[in-house]
Amino acid sequence: MIKKGIILAGGMGTRMSPLTKAVNKQLLPLYDKPLIFYPLSILMLAGIKHVLIIVNKGQLNQFRKILPEKNNIGLKIEYKEQLKPAGLPQAFTIGEKFIGRDNVALILGDNFFYGQSLTKILKKNASFKKGAKIFVYPVKNAQQYGVATLNKNKKILKLDEKPKKPKSNLAVTGLYFFDNNVVSFSKNLKPSSRGELEIIDLLKIYLKRKKLSAEFIGRGGAWLDTGNVKDYYDACNFVSAIENRQGLKIACLEEISLKNKWINSNNILDAISFYGNCEYSKYLKSLIN
Ligand code: G1P
Repeated sequence: MIKKGIILAGGMGTRMSPLTKAVNKQLLPLYDKPLIFYPLSILMLAGIKHVLIIVNKGQLNQFRKILPEKNNIGLKIEYKEQLKPAGLPQAFTIGEKFIGRDNVALILGDNFFYGQSLTKILKKNASFKKGAKIFVYPVKNAQQYGVATLNKNKKILKLDEKPKKPKSNLAVTGLYFFDNNVVSFSKNLKPSSRGELEIIDLLKIYLKRKKLSAEFIGRGGAWLDTGNVKDYYDACNFVSAIENRQGLKIACLEEISLKNKWINSNNILDAISFYGNCEYSKYLKSLIN
């Protein structure tokens, strides 16, 4: 089983300025919770309890306020600062000590996933030992993402980063599972023409060695963009629509942890006093009544 996960929560969020000028995007509300709760919930659903959150220089204390190292969600949380953003694969050099000899998941701090089959897909893939895994999702605007071209047998033929004319509609989502080679592979990457280390180049190393596989998040699932203000609010509306219809919350970290049996009702009571008198706390209370 994959036991460790990294959330890359750096980035300047320039496409959402001025909202992101003073506050990191991952701390903005996605409807009723900070955005970072959603990718964190995905790691937890995959069974990952040990998490490294990589944040921009100077923003550590903001994150610690909402996700402290000593927390009520049954997680072991560590932090590292990214002094100068130089591309996604930097997560593995910054996280080298955290990763140690283990396999590791990476999720981008602004990625939103939802769907009934998701937990099953995550659990199934989390048991891998060697190689790397990507999760692909059909989109209309593939040119804005990493794009995977697959054959009929789900074999990956080609990977391109933001191609002008995509050969497929399958976006490579911001969730990746890697074996331990990822650390040494990342160290040997060279910056692309835009001066950054590219995750696609890292994936291509695995592809060349025939060690990369793709899993579909089917059309019944949702992978939503939170990159610009309009998409961000669309994602908020999505969460609002589902939560208000069902009376159940998406990405309630304590609920997932309770279901995973990582915490008990005393931790929920501690969480309620941590958040104070609010809707979220009321929901937590309903979990233990
Ligand atoms: C990054 C990756 C891209 C991936 C996307 C998913 O792009 O480079 O391959 O499809 O995340 O969110 P960015 O959004 O950082 O431009």
